[in-house]
Formats: sequence, C-alpha cells, structure tokens
Amino acid sequence: MNSSIVLLPGDGIGPEIVEQARLVLIQVAERFGHTFDFSSHQIGGIAIDETGDPLPQPTIDACRNAAAILLGAVGGPKWDDPSAKTRPEAGLLKIRKELGLFANLRPIKLFDELADASPLRADIVKGTDILFFRELTGGIYFGESGTSGSGEEETAFQSMTYSVGEVKRIVRMAAQAARGRSNRLTSVDKANVLEPSRLWRRVAAEVMANEFPDVKYDVVLVDSMAMHLINRPSEFDVVVTGNMFGDILTDEASMLPGSLGMLPSASLGDGGPGLYEPIHGSAPDIAGKSVANPLATILAAAMMLRHSLGLTDEAEAIEKAVAGVITDGLRTPDLARGDQSKSVSTEEMGAAVVAKLAS
Ligand code: NAD
Ligand code: IPM
Ligand code: MN
Repeated sequence: MNSSIVLLPGDGIGPEIVEQARLVLIQVAERFGHTFDFSSHQIGGIAIDETGDPLPQPTIDACRNAAAILLGAVGGPKWDDPSAKTRPEAGLLKIRKELGLFANLRPIKLFDELADASPLRADIVKGTDILFFRELTGGIYFGESGTSGSGEEETAFQSMTYSVGEVKRIVRMAAQAARGRSNRLTSVDKANVLEPSRLWRRVAAEVMANEFPDVKYDVVLVDSMAMHLINRPSEFDVVVTGNMFGDILTDEASMLPGSLGMLPSASLGDGGPGLYEPIHGSAPDIAGKSVANPLATILAAAMMLRHSLGLTDEAEAIEKAVAGVITDGLRTPDLARGDQSKSVSTEEMGAAVVAKLAS
C-alpha cells in the first residue's frame, strides 16, 4: 500500500493545526499497526518567500506521487498586495486543478454537545447533517479574466463557464453519495440570472431523471439557499453546487456546528491522490497564539484515511475520539463562546484527541 502522506502546512495557523493532525495520525498508525510515511512541502506565502512561486515544482511532484495530501491553509496580509505578481491562493487553486480535484466534499455535521456553541438557536441547528459537493475546478474561479483601460474606464472582468461534462460528473458523484445517506439531493444555482446556471440546472435535471430516479431531487436558488440554510438546516441532506456558491454557503454553514474550526473537507477527482484540508483559512488574526482549533484538520485527516487510504475503522476511531473530547467538555476559544475561562490551547486539544485514541 502507498502510505506516503504529503503535508502542506502553508501559512498562518496552517503549521500549528497540521502538526496536531500529524500527531493524531501517528497515534492511529501505532494503534492499528500501520506506518505512514510523512513528508512536508511548501505551498502558499511561505513558498513565495522562499522560491518566488506559491506552488513550486517539487511540491507538485511530491503530491502526484502521494497516497494523499493534508493541507493547512494559505494566505495572509503579508502577501495581500493587490499589485503583487502572484498570491498564496494561486498555489492552492493550481494544485486542485493540476490533480483534477473537481469534487470538494464538505460535511456539515453538528456534534450534539456543541449545539450551544452555535450562534443559532439549539432547536434550529439540532439534527444538522449536510454533505456539500462544491464543484472545485471550474466556474468563475477558473474563468477567463483580465483588465483594460484606465481612469474611470479601467475595467476588470472574470467570466463564469460550466460545461456539460463538468456538471454531469459532480452531480453524479453527489447523487451517488445521496444514495448512501438519506437519498435526497438539492442542487443550488442562480438560473434566474446566469447562463452557466441555466446549463447547470438543465444538465443536473437530466442526470437525475435518467440515472437517479430513486433520489429525491430539488433545486434552490443560491440567495434563497443562504436563508434556508440557517432557517431549516436539518431538512437538507446532500447539496451540490458550483465553485463560488459552494465556497460562500459552506462558510455560512460553519455557524451551524458552531465554528469554522470544526469543518473538514476532501477534494477528490477520478482516482489519484485526494487533498484534505479544513475549510477555513490561515486565520492570521490568531496565528502563532496556540488558540486555533485543530479539530477541522484532524477530521480532515480522518476523511483522508477513509477516502484515499481505505482505512474506515481508523477514520471512525479519529471521529470517535473527536466526539469524545467534545463530550468531555474540551473547547478551544472559538467554541467556548461565553465561557473562555476553561478553554484549551491548540496543543492541548490535539493531545486530548491523541490520548482518547490511545485509551
Ligand atoms: P479565515 O477562515 O482564515 O478566518 C476567518 C475567521 O475564522 C477568523 O476570525 C479566524 O480567526 C477564524 N478561524 C478560522 N479558522 C479557525 C480555527 N481553526 N480555529 C479558530 N478560529 C478560526 O478567513 P479570512 O480571515 O477571511 O482569510 C485569511 C486568509 O486565509 C486569506 O489570505 C484567505 O485567502 C486565506 N484562506 C485560505 C484558505 C485555504 O487555504 N484553504 C481558505 C480560506 C481563506
Ligand atoms: C477555500 C478558500 C479558497 C477558495 C481560497 C483561499 C482560494 O476560501 O478553500 O474555501 O476560495 O476555494
Ligand atoms: Mn473558502
């Protein structure tokens, strides 16, 4: 078995949280008798600083040969100059594209004990268990872009494109997942305004009617979905949507389980290594303070074991350990909300998960 795991810590809190996930993986390996072969590579701002390139070739080569990739986050104020010739985020977009990772799975699942950590009422968030499929290598993120003119006439544009093939493959993957869950799929678009959304809606409906007549299917406009998500989250099962809508809706949805710091993701393509990361960013406001919540990255490591290494029991053991530390009342500051007196550090939270796995 290829057990080579590439770590891409990146910027800001990235190194802090990836280190905790690495320690958890080492504990899993020990408990289940595996050996994981870790190697760390550069991406993002740190890679720009050291090589001038947010995704140096050695990083791409290592990722291609890996069983799976675990990423922290990229970006930060240091590299935010709008006139800079490249940005940390370009490295992340490029690795997703290079590896053909068109499907970004973002589970939004509430740990019951965290119902009070949500800014929404506990009776509303109770029962939330949504699996988002965000299309990841197309749409406006990868559309033609440019600038022209000057003064008042200076113009910038970025086009949004979706092809039939791109829509079919993500809708199929989402519908398959729905079959293994509550058999419901919601497609989110902006077909009342955008041409690519009209194509998306038509193709999705065809795929569902022809290939998944057994899956209950509906469509919701993205603005309306932003409202429904916080009004009746427990009514959604699998949601499929385009690149930018999925980016925005899932950050919104992170408030259902209570914090961005709880949400993992898996980016998958047609075979090949998957990329696993928290959905949050490099959190420059808390970097270096040992207060970041490492659980999203630890849960991303569990997704990695399940989807790329076929280690289901091991993935479940991590998820159970995370649930265990939550039940024990451990809270990083993002989850502690009103009561910061008992909050734990990044390292304490990671160590508690490791200890649960060892017990
Ligand atoms: P962010 O997700 O980094 O942070 C938003 C807020 O959530 C901040 O207040 C932050 O402190 C908090 N937060 C995020 N993760 C947390 C965690 N694990 N524990 C506790 N609190 C957490 O978004 P932002 O501030 O808008 O972006 C910062 C930088 O990150 C930008 O450069 C952006 O481009 C980049 N970014 C990268 C990724 C990625 O690498 N996948 C994702 C999103 C944003
Ligand atoms: C995410 C991030 C990225 C995205 C950025 C940093 C390129 O927000 O992973 O959600 O927009 O995809
Ligand atoms: Mn995002």
